[in-house]
Amino acid sequence: MMTVLDRPHEIVLSESQIEEKVKELGFEITKDYFDKSPIIIGILKGSVIFLADLIRSVDLQLSIDFVAVSSYGSEMSSSGVVRIQYDMKTSIEGRDVLLVEDIVDTGLTLAYLMESFTTRHPRSLKVCTLLDKKEARKPEIELKLDYVGFEVPNRFLVGYGLDYDEKYRNLPFVAAISD
Ligand code: IMP
Ligand code: MG
Repeated sequence: MMTVLDRPHEIVLSESQIEEKVKELGFEITKDYFDKSPIIIGILKGSVIFLADLIRSVDLQLSIDFVAVSSYGSEMSSSGVVRIQYDMKTSIEGRDVLLVEDIVDTGLTLAYLMESFTTRHPRSLKVCTLLDKKEARKPEIELKLDYVGFEVPNRFLVGYGLDYDEKYRNLPFVAAISD
């Protein structure tokens, strides 16, 4: 048991639950893109752990890249403003793009990125998120999530890439914490 989680918490997803789901998602993606060479784009920093595990379950010729956006400060709630802080060097024009996210909450981040990426004319653009906090979605946001690992309750989660104030990303499981 890891000891870095130094506050009251409840395990929401165990290491083995995540591992099994990531393999399933990798298998599905392999099947859907069997004749393609997608570019898998991780949204920094939360998706790094998930992406690293996911691509090892994907049996395709693929490449990876990353973008960084800001929407959250170090708080537990979204500021509602999304900005690209670090953009990719590679062109996605004519490419099959799969955006990988750790968690979709209000949906603002992904909606913004989808719009921004669409203007770059990829051949296809899909989304894979490990977690979907569906209840927290802003009603005006319309998002189609192509691959979803788990629907999770509307609580603040940490671990497996998810942070609270930059901490707890290295936990191998996902836990809910309260303030
Ligand atoms: P959205 O724009 O509100 O959908 O927020 C998406 C981003 O907020 C994710 O990429 C996460 O980095 C962060 N986020 C949302 N919910 C949580 C959470 O429960 N724990 C940690 N980070 C979260
Ligand atoms: Mg984050």
